[in-house]
Amino acid sequence: MGFLYRLRVPRADKRYKVNERGAGVHTVAIWGAGTMGRVHAGCYGRSREARVRYIIDQDLDRAAQLASAYGATPTADPNVALTDRDIDVVDVCLPTYLHRESVEHAAGFGKHVFCEKPIALSVDDARAMISACQSRGLKLGIGHVLRYFPEYEMAHHMITSGKLGRIGVVRLSRIGPFPRAWADWYTDNERSGGLLLDLSIHDFDFLAWCFGPVERVYARKVWQDRPLEYALAVVRMKNGVIAHVEGSWAHPGPFSYKFEVCGSAGMIEFDSRKTRPLSVLTASTTGNAAPGVAVPESPLKDKEPYLGEIREFLAYVRGECTPRVLPEDAVAALEISLAAIRSADSGKVAIPFPRL
Ligand SMILES: NC(=O)c1ccc[n+]([C@@H]2O[C@H](COP(=O)([O-])OP(=O)(O)OC[C@H]3O[C@@H](n4cnc5c(N)ncnc54)[C@H](O)[C@@H]3O)[C@@H](O)[C@H]2O)c1
Repeated sequence: MGFLYRLRVPRADKRYKVNERGAGVHTVAIWGAGTMGRVHAGCYGRSREARVRYIIDQDLDRAAQLASAYGATPTADPNVALTDRDIDVVDVCLPTYLHRESVEHAAGFGKHVFCEKPIALSVDDARAMISACQSRGLKLGIGHVLRYFPEYEMAHHMITSGKLGRIGVVRLSRIGPFPRAWADWYTDNERSGGLLLDLSIHDFDFLAWCFGPVERVYARKVWQDRPLEYALAVVRMKNGVIAHVEGSWAHPGPFSYKFEVCGSAGMIEFDSRKTRPLSVLTASTTGNAAPGVAVPESPLKDKEPYLGEIREFLAYVRGECTPRVLPEDAVAALEISLAAIRSADSGKVAIPFPRL
């Protein structure tokens, strides 16, 4: 890593500027110009609250290509961006194995950090990142974007408001082709954590968001001549809910996801492959044997999940809200993923929050 040497500068005095509408205007450096760097740059580009000033990538051509679309400066040296006192937010879109050192490095320069999920490859790394930010009074956001998808927001609302009654079983599925990325880093478990950590963590986070802590996990996985990987986890929540979490990086594509949540008063299901994507089936209030009434609900089409999570993080930086994903939530999701990996490797049930 070229950025391991440390330069310390005082934190910028002016954390963000205020535009004519009174909204904060943040100055952002995006670190990593791959798939997610491009997605996040597009979000800042559409946001009124932030401007991208730097794109940092070890591949300068890649950085330059992305930077040119946003009038930003490309650089291969993170310290060029981090020593700029106007930068108040660093957005880390690097491969997962680089999250800890990049977040710690940015925090060392007094920058708030938004970092893609998963927070890290280990709980120790995650806790070090949280401490690096918290000890300096800096905000850390983690991109558990599923919480900002309207269909998952709706399911969360239906579950937590009690509209579906007592939840019994949840089925979550996320399938697509093997991700192709810089240096094939997803094929290396040491760098990506594999499917259960990288992909299924979205669904594990959704479960924890809706139902709280997990009691135990049993997982099996298959992989052949990587890149091909499939995993199935059965998750028992402490409140008694049972969830099946399916993840696949062995599907020809396109990428799709679905869920089904069954409760004593009804169910909600979603399948991204269907044209009518969301339907709510509510049990008859008369208690007869009728299967229920399908009530189509339109996902809120004006909501962009990736923009939503970034805007909420920027509001958090300004002290205007508590975001729906706190760093501890990212640790909880990571612990479930790590338990699922332990289970798949050992063939035994694993407990996510091992306490002596
Ligand atoms: N939230 C989501 O839906 C979602 C989707 C995909 C990926 N992700 C996560 O986003 C992160 C990035 O994944 P990606 O698919 O965008 O990766 P990618 O391979 O597409 O991009 C990584 C970029 O980092 C650059 N890079 C590598 N090492 C570097 C270094 N030492 N210094 C500077 N630049 C370096 C590469 O040149 C590349 O441009 C991962 O943590 C991944 O798990 C999240």
